[in-house]
Amino acid sequence: MIQKTADIIANQQLSDTCWRMRLAAGPAITASARPGQFVMVRPNGGDRPFLPRPFSIHRINKENGSLDLLYKVIGPGTRRMSGLNAGDGLAVTGPLGSGFRIEQQYENISIIGGGIGLAPLVFLADVLAAETPAPFRAEVFIGAATADEILCRDEFTDLKMGVHIATDDGSAGHHGFVTELFGIITKDNPPDMIFACGPPAMLRATAKITASRNIPCQISIETIMACGIGACLGCAVKPAGNTSHYLHACRQGPVFFSSEIDINSLV
Ligand code: FES
Repeated sequence: MIQKTADIIANQQLSDTCWRMRLAAGPAITASARPGQFVMVRPNGGDRPFLPRPFSIHRINKENGSLDLLYKVIGPGTRRMSGLNAGDGLAVTGPLGSGFRIEQQYENISIIGGGIGLAPLVFLADVLAAETPAPFRAEVFIGAATADEILCRDEFTDLKMGVHIATDDGSAGHHGFVTELFGIITKDNPPDMIFACGPPAMLRATAKITASRNIPCQISIETIMACGIGACLGCAVKPAGNTSHYLHACRQGPVFFSSEIDINSLV
C-alpha cells in the first residue's frame, strides 16, 4: 500500500454527472494494482471532504504509471474533484482491498455493469483480454438510465468484447433492466463466470439469476468506507448464512462471490 500526492493529468467530463480523471499515481501503485481493487482519494487543501473516499481503479497504464478513476458527482467531495484541473494534486492511498478472482481457463464470461458500476469492470476487461488464452469470449452488458448516460461502450468494443445495452427509458438498446437482457442473451449459452458491479438492486437480480442457473458470480459492492484499511469497521458486510461474524468490504472485498454474502442486506 502506497500513500502519496498524485498530480492530475486530465479530468474529463463524460456525461452530465460522470467524469474520468487520470492521475500520475506512479509505478509503485500501478505495478501491484489488480482489477476490483480501489484507492482512497482526498483532494489536497480545502475543508471538504474531511475524510478520503474510496474509488475503484478504473484503468491503469503500467508503462507510464497513470491510473484512471471513473466517478459520478454526487456530493461535495466529488463536486470538488470535478472542478480540479491538470496539475492539481490529490492524496491517494492504494491499491487496497481484494479484487476479482481471475482464473486463466475461462472460455465464456459475462460482465454486467450498471451506471457508475462500470468503473472497475474496464480494468477487469483489460486484464482478462490480456491474460486469458484463446478460446476466450466475453459478453458485456451495460445498463444506464438513458442513452446519454451509457458508459465505457467503446472501451469494451476496443477489446473485441460483445456489448449489449439496456436503458431504463428505452432510448438505446433493450428497454428495461440490464439483468433481463443478460438473462435473454445467455439463456442457451451460459457463461463460466459472471463479474458484476452496479446498484444493489442490479446485484440482487444478478445473484438471483445466477443462483437459479448455477453460474458462479463475483460482485463488486459499494459500502461506506472511512479508512479503507480495516480500522474503522464502517464497511461491514453481512455474510451468507447464520453467523455473527461480519466481513469487511475494504479488506475481504469489495469483491465477493455473490454466494458469500447476504445479498438482500445490500443497500
Ligand atoms: Fe474502515 Fe473498512 S473502511 S474498516
